[in-house]
Amino acid sequence: MSASEDPRLTGPADAPILAALHAVCFDDPWSLQAMVDILASPGVIAWLAFDRDAGGTSAPAGFAIIRLTTDEGELLSLGVAAAFRRRSIARRLLAMGMRHAAECGARRIFLEVAEDNVAAQALYAAEGFEVVGRRPAYYRRADGAPVAALTLRRRIAGRFWRIRL
Ligand SMILES: CC(C)(COP(=O)(O)OP(=O)(O)OC[C@H]1O[C@@H](n2cnc3c(N)ncnc32)[C@H](O)[C@@H]1OP(=O)(O)O)[C@@H](O)C(=O)NCCC(=O)NCCS
Repeated sequence: MSASEDPRLTGPADAPILAALHAVCFDDPWSLQAMVDILASPGVIAWLAFDRDAGGTSAPAGFAIIRLTTDEGELLSLGVAAAFRRRSIARRLLAMGMRHAAECGARRIFLEVAEDNVAAQALYAAEGFEVVGRRPAYYRRADGAPVAALTLRRRIAGRFWRIRL
Protein backbone atom coordinates (compact mmCIF):
# COMPACT_ATOMS: atom_id res chain seq x y z
CA MET A 1 0.00 0.00 0.00
CA SER A 2 1.38 3.41 -0.92
CA ALA A 3 0.05 6.95 -1.10
CA SER A 4 0.83 9.96 -3.25
CA GLU A 5 1.81 13.11 -1.41
CA ASP A 6 0.81 16.66 -2.31
CA PRO A 7 2.97 17.87 -5.21
CA ARG A 8 5.60 20.35 -4.11
CA LEU A 9 7.16 23.29 -5.91
CA THR A 10 10.55 22.50 -7.32
CA GLY A 11 13.29 24.15 -9.37
CA PRO A 12 16.73 23.75 -10.99
CA ALA A 13 18.15 21.99 -7.90
CA ASP A 14 15.84 19.06 -8.67
CA ALA A 15 16.72 18.98 -12.37
CA PRO A 16 18.32 15.50 -12.12
CA ILE A 17 15.11 14.05 -10.64
CA LEU A 18 12.94 15.82 -13.21
CA ALA A 19 15.18 14.74 -16.10
CA ALA A 20 15.06 11.13 -14.88
CA LEU A 21 11.26 11.23 -14.64
CA HIS A 22 11.00 12.89 -18.06
CA ALA A 23 13.19 10.13 -19.52
CA VAL A 24 10.88 7.35 -18.30
CA CYS A 25 7.78 9.18 -19.55
CA PHE A 26 8.80 10.27 -23.06
CA ASP A 27 10.49 8.77 -26.13
CA ASP A 28 12.50 11.96 -26.69
CA PRO A 29 13.83 12.85 -23.22
CA TRP A 30 15.23 16.26 -22.36
CA SER A 31 18.89 16.18 -21.37
CA LEU A 32 19.87 17.22 -17.86
CA GLN A 33 21.27 20.48 -19.24
CA ALA A 34 18.08 21.14 -21.20
CA MET A 35 16.06 20.54 -18.02
CA VAL A 36 18.29 22.92 -16.03
CA ASP A 37 17.93 25.58 -18.72
CA ILE A 38 14.15 25.21 -18.89
CA LEU A 39 13.72 25.35 -15.12
CA ALA A 40 15.88 28.47 -14.98
CA SER A 41 13.92 30.24 -17.73
CA PRO A 42 11.77 33.27 -16.85
CA GLY A 43 8.25 32.40 -15.78
CA VAL A 44 8.86 28.66 -15.52
CA ILE A 45 7.44 26.87 -12.48
CA ALA A 46 7.58 23.15 -11.76
CA TRP A 47 6.04 20.68 -9.33
CA LEU A 48 7.15 17.24 -8.25
CA ALA A 49 4.80 14.59 -6.91
CA PHE A 50 6.09 11.86 -4.62
CA ASP A 51 4.72 8.50 -3.67
CA ARG A 52 5.29 7.17 -0.17
CA ASP A 53 5.35 3.42 0.39
CA ALA A 54 4.14 1.57 3.48
CA GLY A 55 7.59 1.91 5.06
CA GLY A 56 7.48 5.70 4.69
CA THR A 57 10.00 5.90 1.84
CA SER A 58 9.20 8.53 -0.78
CA ALA A 59 9.89 8.09 -4.48
CA PRO A 60 9.51 10.69 -7.26
CA ALA A 61 6.34 9.78 -9.15
CA GLY A 62 5.42 12.65 -11.46
CA PHE A 63 6.06 16.22 -12.49
CA ALA A 64 4.52 19.22 -14.20
CA ILE A 65 6.31 22.18 -15.75
CA ILE A 66 4.45 25.36 -16.65
CA ARG A 67 5.57 28.62 -18.21
CA LEU A 68 3.64 31.76 -17.28
CA THR A 69 3.54 34.90 -19.38
CA THR A 70 1.43 37.99 -18.72
CA ASP A 71 -1.99 36.40 -18.85
CA GLU A 72 -1.35 32.92 -20.23
CA GLY A 73 0.16 29.71 -19.06
CA GLU A 74 1.70 26.96 -21.15
CA LEU A 75 2.00 23.43 -19.87
CA LEU A 76 5.50 22.56 -21.10
CA SER A 77 5.56 19.01 -19.81
CA LEU A 78 3.62 16.64 -17.59
CA GLY A 79 4.48 13.05 -16.80
CA VAL A 80 3.88 10.29 -14.30
CA ALA A 81 6.14 7.23 -14.09
CA ALA A 82 4.35 4.09 -15.26
CA ALA A 83 4.28 2.43 -11.82
CA PHE A 84 2.22 5.31 -10.41
CA ARG A 85 -0.31 5.94 -13.16
CA ARG A 86 -4.12 6.01 -12.81
CA ARG A 87 -3.90 7.26 -9.24
CA SER A 88 -4.87 10.88 -10.00
CA ILE A 89 -1.29 12.14 -9.71
CA ALA A 90 -1.41 13.92 -13.09
CA ARG A 91 -4.84 15.34 -12.27
CA ARG A 92 -3.47 16.81 -9.05
CA LEU A 93 -0.36 18.18 -10.73
CA LEU A 94 -2.51 19.80 -13.40
CA ALA A 95 -4.90 21.27 -10.83
CA MET A 96 -1.98 22.68 -8.87
CA GLY A 97 -0.49 24.22 -11.99
CA MET A 98 -3.78 25.76 -13.08
CA ARG A 99 -4.49 27.13 -9.61
CA HIS A 100 -1.06 28.71 -9.45
CA ALA A 101 -1.41 30.12 -12.96
CA ALA A 102 -4.79 31.64 -12.05
CA GLU A 103 -3.34 33.18 -8.90
CA CYS A 104 -0.60 34.74 -11.03
CA GLY A 105 -3.22 36.32 -13.31
CA ALA A 106 -3.33 33.81 -16.17
CA ARG A 107 -6.70 33.63 -17.88
CA ARG A 108 -6.07 30.57 -20.02
CA ILE A 109 -3.63 27.73 -20.30
CA PHE A 110 -2.38 26.06 -23.46
CA LEU A 111 -0.62 22.80 -24.15
CA GLU A 112 0.33 20.54 -27.02
CA VAL A 113 -0.36 16.84 -27.05
CA ALA A 114 0.42 14.18 -29.63
CA GLU A 115 -2.62 13.25 -31.68
CA ASP A 116 -2.08 9.56 -30.81
CA ASN A 117 -1.65 10.11 -27.05
CA VAL A 118 -4.98 8.67 -25.90
CA ALA A 119 -4.21 8.74 -22.16
CA ALA A 120 -3.15 12.38 -22.06
CA GLN A 121 -6.05 13.48 -24.26
CA ALA A 122 -8.50 11.72 -21.95
CA LEU A 123 -6.95 13.47 -18.97
CA TYR A 124 -7.11 16.90 -20.59
CA ALA A 125 -10.67 16.41 -21.87
CA ALA A 126 -11.75 15.37 -18.37
CA GLU A 127 -10.14 18.54 -17.01
CA GLY A 128 -11.99 20.81 -19.41
CA PHE A 129 -9.44 21.43 -22.18
CA GLU A 130 -10.69 21.89 -25.74
CA VAL A 131 -8.89 21.43 -29.04
CA VAL A 132 -8.11 24.78 -30.67
CA GLY A 133 -5.50 23.80 -33.26
CA ARG A 134 -3.53 21.07 -34.99
CA ARG A 135 0.10 21.06 -36.14
CA PRO A 136 0.83 18.32 -38.69
CA ALA A 137 4.06 16.33 -38.25
CA TYR A 138 4.96 18.27 -35.09
CA TYR A 139 6.48 15.23 -33.37
CA ARG A 140 8.53 12.39 -34.79
CA ARG A 141 8.43 8.90 -33.30
CA ALA A 142 11.56 6.82 -32.67
CA ASP A 143 10.94 5.02 -35.99
CA GLY A 144 10.75 8.38 -37.76
CA ALA A 145 6.99 8.40 -38.20
CA PRO A 146 5.50 11.91 -38.04
CA VAL A 147 2.73 12.62 -35.53
CA ALA A 148 0.54 15.71 -35.41
CA ALA A 149 0.21 17.82 -32.28
CA LEU A 150 -3.14 19.06 -31.04
CA THR A 151 -3.16 22.45 -29.34
CA LEU A 152 -5.49 22.46 -26.35
CA ARG A 153 -6.76 25.40 -24.33
CA ARG A 154 -8.60 25.82 -21.09
CA ARG A 155 -9.86 29.06 -19.61
CA ILE A 156 -8.91 29.17 -15.96
CA ALA A 157 -9.33 32.54 -14.32
CA GLY A 158 -13.08 32.57 -13.79
CA ARG A 159 -13.32 29.22 -12.11
CA PHE A 160 -10.45 29.72 -9.69
CA TRP A 161 -11.27 33.32 -8.85
CA ARG A 162 -14.77 32.16 -7.92
CA ILE A 163 -13.27 29.55 -5.59
CA ARG A 164 -11.07 32.20 -3.99
CA LEU A 165 -13.97 34.57 -3.27
C1 LIG B 1 -0.87 11.09 -19.39
C2 LIG B 1 -0.35 10.82 -17.97
C3 LIG B 1 0.40 12.09 -17.48
C4 LIG B 1 -1.53 10.55 -17.03
O1 LIG B 1 -1.03 10.40 -15.71
P1 LIG B 1 -1.87 9.67 -14.56
O2 LIG B 1 -1.30 10.09 -13.25
O3 LIG B 1 -1.93 8.23 -14.83
O4 LIG B 1 -3.31 10.30 -14.78
P2 LIG B 1 -4.48 10.36 -13.67
O5 LIG B 1 -4.45 9.14 -12.83
O6 LIG B 1 -4.42 11.68 -12.97
O7 LIG B 1 -5.76 10.30 -14.62
C5 LIG B 1 -6.78 11.28 -14.59
C6 LIG B 1 -7.79 10.94 -15.67
O8 LIG B 1 -7.17 11.00 -16.97
C7 LIG B 1 -7.73 9.96 -17.80
N1 LIG B 1 -6.69 8.96 -18.10
C8 LIG B 1 -5.44 8.90 -17.60
N2 LIG B 1 -4.77 7.86 -18.14
C9 LIG B 1 -5.62 7.26 -19.00
C10 LIG B 1 -5.51 6.14 -19.87
N3 LIG B 1 -4.37 5.42 -19.94
N4 LIG B 1 -6.57 5.80 -20.62
C11 LIG B 1 -7.71 6.51 -20.57
N5 LIG B 1 -7.89 7.59 -19.75
C12 LIG B 1 -6.84 7.95 -18.98
C13 LIG B 1 -8.86 9.34 -16.99
O9 LIG B 1 -10.01 10.12 -17.23
C14 LIG B 1 -8.34 9.56 -15.57
O10 LIG B 1 -9.36 9.50 -14.62
P3 LIG B 1 -9.78 8.07 -13.95
O11 LIG B 1 -8.52 7.38 -13.55
O12 LIG B 1 -10.61 8.49 -12.78
O13 LIG B 1 -10.52 7.34 -15.02
C15 LIG B 1 0.58 9.56 -17.95
O14 LIG B 1 -0.06 8.49 -18.60
C16 LIG B 1 1.94 9.81 -18.58
O15 LIG B 1 2.86 10.29 -17.94
N6 LIG B 1 2.08 9.45 -19.88
C17 LIG B 1 3.37 9.61 -20.58
C18 LIG B 1 3.76 11.08 -20.72
C19 LIG B 1 2.66 11.89 -21.38
O16 LIG B 1 2.02 11.45 -22.33
N7 LIG B 1 2.48 13.14 -20.87
C20 LIG B 1 1.52 14.07 -21.43
C21 LIG B 1 2.11 14.77 -22.60
S1 LIG B 1 1.04 16.03 -23.25
